Amino acid sequence: MSQNIYPVPEGFAGPNTINAEQYAALYAESVDSPETFWAKAAERLEWFKKPTQIKDTNFDPKNFYTRWFADGELNVSVNCIDRHLATRGDKTAILWEPDSPDTPSQAITYRQLSERVNKLANALRTLGVQKGDRVTVYLPMIPDAAVALLACARIGAIHNVVFGGFSPTSVADRVRDSAAKVIITADEGLRAGRKVPLKANVDAALQQEGTQSIEKVIVLQHTGSDIAWQEGRDVWLHDITASEPAECEPERMNAEDPLFILYTSGSTGKPKGVLHTTGGYLVQAAYTHEAIFDLREDDIYWCTADVGWVTGHSYIVYGPLANGATTLIFEGVPSYPDASRFWQVVDKHLVTIFYTAPTAIRALMREGEELVKKTSRKSLRILGSVGEPINPEAWRWYYDVVGESRLPIVDTWWQTETGAFMIAPIPGAIPTKPGSATKPFFGVQPALVNAEGEFVQGAGEGNLVITDSWPAQARTVYGDHQRFIDTYFSAYPGYYFTGDGARRDEDGYYWITGRVDDVINVSGHRIGTAELESALVQHPKVAEAAAVGFNHDLKGQGIYVYVTLVAGEEPSNELQKELVAHVRKVIGPIATPDFLQWAPALPKTRSGKIMRRILRKIAENAPDQLGDTSTLADPSVVDTLVKERHLT
Ligand code: PRX
Repeated sequence: MSQNIYPVPEGFAGPNTINAEQYAALYAESVDSPETFWAKAAERLEWFKKPTQIKDTNFDPKNFYTRWFADGELNVSVNCIDRHLATRGDKTAILWEPDSPDTPSQAITYRQLSERVNKLANALRTLGVQKGDRVTVYLPMIPDAAVALLACARIGAIHNVVFGGFSPTSVADRVRDSAAKVIITADEGLRAGRKVPLKANVDAALQQEGTQSIEKVIVLQHTGSDIAWQEGRDVWLHDITASEPAECEPERMNAEDPLFILYTSGSTGKPKGVLHTTGGYLVQAAYTHEAIFDLREDDIYWCTADVGWVTGHSYIVYGPLANGATTLIFEGVPSYPDASRFWQVVDKHLVTIFYTAPTAIRALMREGEELVKKTSRKSLRILGSVGEPINPEAWRWYYDVVGESRLPIVDTWWQTETGAFMIAPIPGAIPTKPGSATKPFFGVQPALVNAEGEFVQGAGEGNLVITDSWPAQARTVYGDHQRFIDTYFSAYPGYYFTGDGARRDEDGYYWITGRVDDVINVSGHRIGTAELESALVQHPKVAEAAAVGFNHDLKGQGIYVYVTLVAGEEPSNELQKELVAHVRKVIGPIATPDFLQWAPALPKTRSGKIMRRILRKIAENAPDQLGDTSTLADPSVVDTLVKERHLT
């Protein structure tokens, strides 16, 4: 067992290092006296009005409320920019590494960032965007993505970032649901040398029903390609910002005013607009970023996520900039021009903290050690992982090959809904174990519930719940508060249900085992089975569809769909390709099914419910584990599916 425990490296110490005793004492205080603990934690921010009310929360679904720092007033952009100007004005805030290594990288100082953010904030105000208005952001991984978020925050507009890989339909769904007034996009994005037609996607999205709320499309010139232009609606970002002053009065925001909406998949229906507010979110994003990455003033910090996901929000933009750090934004992909790009970028910019996803680690592991070893990586101090459980084999490769057995790995478990890290090792305090996210962050109280609905004591396994509120937790589902309560607080009344399963070992370490609901985690991205199914049945030839996840060597989970055609339609290879393309078109390439099996019928209970458990076992090629099929309306359906299972 001992070789599976990786101690805190000897001599590990910096100005923000938290050691084991400090962790124990602070954790105890955070749960015993949350008011005192978080009042102190809030002092890391600059407030227009300091909060005196700290925690005011109730998880009882009948009388649910979550208010943190409720009488405090602040502005996120002031915290991420203005307050650093006196001491860090010339420090690099954002380092940009473009898609191609041949394109020059850029360094943007805090002072330059301030200018760009203020100009855009003024331009948004000139266009009529006011506090509380929604702004959709659909941009590539360029510094302007951070500028756009901060400009919204400066004037109190609620941003909604849509991942650049999403389809026009996904953009339209999010515009409709949030009734956004403005979209900020670019002519095109670039990924691995290929162009992504962002503006054309926006044009297509805005032709769809229910998107009339959009008054202006702000377009950033990135690749310079020709694009279609709608006079009166479309404006160039460089035109509208050119004559705006470089100072913009920040909006005084209440701590509980919304900061952003981010859509994420759940087990039912369309993606939900998870809403985060201002004060609690920023306190925890900044605090966790400092503590878990053991932040030091001269760090070059690089998180490889996309700003379209929560990781990009909290740990590319808000956490690092609130801490006055240098954050690297990378436009490209790990495999372009070749699979040593990550390590080349680390060496080029002397990155000290590197934070990525297990799916990337597994893909690079497959390419062999040579591509890593030909680079130096001497600048690195800390490695991080996020998005899905990291298998011990990938963890060890990350540790031994990338980190040369000298760097702590912080495996960070959290979610769009949690806003910030929840379970993750503080590197100066907590020895790590490959595959475990280890121990909870301050104020986070995890618990496991077994199949009987009882709390698991000591070592054991169950569904992961959080028993009390934490500052960065989502406050609601935009426009549907009941759905928020039903989704997260009703399965186990009084507790937040994460949707994940977990194991706790004899040392109190948590091991996340993955989703226990109908969410498939593909390469760290959440895709709802309901979304896949509704995309498929939109096709005129599809009568019914069911989607399940299966274990996938690289992606963690892959997508396996079963399709029943309408009477009279015949399965064919062409139709199979057409349906896969259809799903990509409706949702986006990240939702591409790996396998599609024709199903003459789907296994259903007598009340008509699809038995996904059985479909999962068939997809996993485990027909001996189907369990009880006697409750099915027609058990023979299963035999056919097993016989015709897609051969992998
Ligand atoms: O299943 C867990 C998995 O990702 C889910 C959250 O996805 P999302 O909201 O898109 O946020 C991803 C980035 C925080 C969780 O319910 N997950 C995330 N991080 C980990 C993880 N599973 C295991 N270990 C992790 N470190």
